[in-house]
Parts: sequence; structure tokens; C-alpha cells
Amino acid sequence: MERTLAINIPENDKYYDIYINNEPVESLYKDLLIRTKNRKRLIVFSEKVYDLYSKNLPFPKNEIFVLKDGEEQKNLKNYLKIINLLIKNKMTRKDVIIAIGGGVAGDITGFAAATYMRGINFIQVPTTLLSMVDSSVGGKTAIDMNSAKNILGCFYQPECVFINLNFLKTLDERQYMSGLGEVLKYAFIEGNCCNDDPKSLFEFLSINSSRILSRDLYFLEKLIAICLTYKINVVRADEKEAGLRKVLNLGHTLGHALETHTKYKKYTHGEAVIWGMTLIFKWALKNCYIDTVYYKAAMELIALYGFKPLNENIKTDKIVDLMLLDKKAETGKIKLIVPSGARVVTEKEITNFEEFKLWLAEQ
Ligand SMILES: NC(=O)c1ccc[n+]([C@@H]2O[C@H](COP(=O)([O-])OP(=O)(O)OC[C@H]3O[C@@H](n4cnc5c(N)ncnc54)[C@H](O)[C@@H]3O)[C@@H](O)[C@H]2O)c1
Repeated sequence: MERTLAINIPENDKYYDIYINNEPVESLYKDLLIRTKNRKRLIVFSEKVYDLYSKNLPFPKNEIFVLKDGEEQKNLKNYLKIINLLIKNKMTRKDVIIAIGGGVAGDITGFAAATYMRGINFIQVPTTLLSMVDSSVGGKTAIDMNSAKNILGCFYQPECVFINLNFLKTLDERQYMSGLGEVLKYAFIEGNCCNDDPKSLFEFLSINSSRILSRDLYFLEKLIAICLTYKINVVRADEKEAGLRKVLNLGHTLGHALETHTKYKKYTHGEAVIWGMTLIFKWALKNCYIDTVYYKAAMELIALYGFKPLNENIKTDKIVDLMLLDKKAETGKIKLIVPSGARVVTEKEITNFEEFKLWLAEQ
């Protein structure tokens, strides 16, 4: 099983490949050594990935930084630790920094790569489903502050992405489901993703749920390729999120607010996104942006994958304040990506905060 996808971003003359395979992890090690030959390396591992795979990926100790697990580790302190290691190892812009792990490791490493000496080479090796279908491609890098998620960051594309499907075998169930949260998002926005392929992700997910839930690598390879094709189409058209790329934020403004509100500890990113999407579907139905038939189909797909409503007693004032701090917000305005038809979304502004808060409190 082997496939290469290419992404080109005409706006900044950037081109890179995404290699997908299910070779033994040892062959990834060889590929990385070949790719980075004659360059100094710093490898940032997610903690669990290091514990599980350091034997298969035996980089020398002085080339390794192990990032503790948890969204709360995507912080300024760890960012500075990575920068200090780059300085200590006398790395230059010719050298390379590699993230091997989930989206947390990818985001913080990408931000360090983007800012060290105004940009050092960067390779993404995503090891969670979420990072394979989403965060490793497209160049969004960031760290969080206590007050807001992803508040420090920039756009910085990797030189390539290596996806080895075997990593998915050791991912725990909760993290696997978290990745499926982002996968479902693509099904709800596929009409916006310049999709020429008549085979729909929505149907693929509906028909093959048991194979996907049992992590059949043959189906996962197809699933990842479909999601990445959508992401590539969107990023190619709008790298810096001036317009089209905003569609990828379906469920995220609410989801990020929930993650920040619960101090990044209670929910995974995918769980928060599913919560945000479920609410925004209800909002869309209430405002007649979608009909009941599509609303039910979307909710059935979410339920088919076993997602249940969160039992969260949310403080609506706080959530709305956090939504106003979201990077996508303009001063004093909340703009949300909202379903507007079968598998398509559009941007809408919430003009009446009080009405929105009251509605949110009732959910
Ligand atoms: N840059 C983007 O475009 C973008 C898009 C979506 C999400 N994100 C970010 O991604 C982050 C979430 O990423 P995530 O869901 O990958 O979580 P994560 O990085 O926190 O990883 C989840 C857990 O899984 C472990 N893990 C990783 N790979 C494993 C494997 N193969 N086997 C066993 N355990 C493994 C990690 O060590 C960690 O404990 C959030 O910070 C979110 O904001 C970024």
C-alpha cells in the first residue's frame, strides 16, 4: 500500500509531497535518514510515541526532544526549550527539525521551525489519525496561552510529510475517535472542497463504518487520501485563510472555546469539534439554513460512529467571550461556519449575542 499526494501552493511557490504507506516503521527510519542526509537533525517526539517507537526509530539521544503529552504542553515554555536545543546544537537554516507524533507535537514543532532563524526546514511525521488527516498538512503552526488556544502561530509549510499507517495500530480508542471527529467534519464540508470526484466521503463513511471503526488499514488509507485531497484543494486555493479555508473551521470556534474553558484537560480536540459541530447543526436547523432531512442524516452519521452528546454544564457567557477571542473573529463580532445545505457550509455572523447565549443555555 503506497501512495504519494502532492500539494502545491502557487501563492508562495511552495510544493511538497505527502508519502503514505504501511511499511514497517523501521523503513520510515531509513527514509528519514536518507531525506536528512548531511544535515543536522532535531526530532521532537510525542511522549507516548517515543515510549512505543524509540527502538524502531533509534535516533541518537542528542537529536531528541520528548514533548510530554497533553494539549497543555503546547505552550511557550516547551517552545523555548525546543529553540534552546536548536541553539545548543548549533543548527542552521540548512538543517532540519522533525515532528514525530500527534498534532500537539506537529503544531509546536512547526512554530519553532517557522521562527528559528526566520525558518528552518521542517518534516512532519503524523502518528495520530487527526494529525494524518488534518494538522500535518497545510502549514498551520501554533502554541496556546492560558487565555486562548493557538493564539501564537503562523503559516509555515513542511518540506514533506511521511504518513505510516502502522502507527494507527497503537493509538488508544479515545484518540482514534478524536481523529474521526475531524474526518466527519470533512464529510460535512465536502461540497466546498473543490471536489471533482463523484464518490462522496459522506457515503464512504456511511457504508464502511464497521471497517473504519475496526481500523482496517486498507479503508483507512483510502479515507486519509480522501480527507487530504480535500484539504490540499482548500489550502491550494487559500493558504492564509482569507476565504475558502475558513470552511475547515466547522465546529472549531465553539470547540476551541470549550477546550480553553476546560483548560485543555477535559476533552480531546476531536471531541470538542464534534460538540461544536452538533451545536452548529442545531443552530443551522433553527435558522432554516438546512432542512430536517439533512440535519437527521448528519446526526445519524455522527451517532453511527458512536459519538454521544457531552454531558457538559457550560457557562454560556464564558463560551461566548472565548468565541470573541477566536482568531477568526473580528472585533466585537462572531463569525461561524454554518451548514447551509447538504455537505456544504457558509460563513454567518452572529449578530444578536444575547439571543445566541439564551439558545446555547437551552441546549
Ligand atoms: N495545524 C493544524 O492545521 C491543526 C488542525 C487540527 C488540529 N490541530 C491541533 O492538533 C492537536 C491535537 O492533535 P492530536 O489529536 O493528534 O493529539 P495529540 O498530539 O495530543 O496526541 C494525542 C495522544 O496520542 C499519543 N499518540 C500519538 N501517536 C500515537 C500512536 N501512534 N500510538 C499511541 N499513542 C500515540 C500522543 O503521545 C498523545 O498522548 C491540537 O492541539 C489541535 O489544535 C492542528
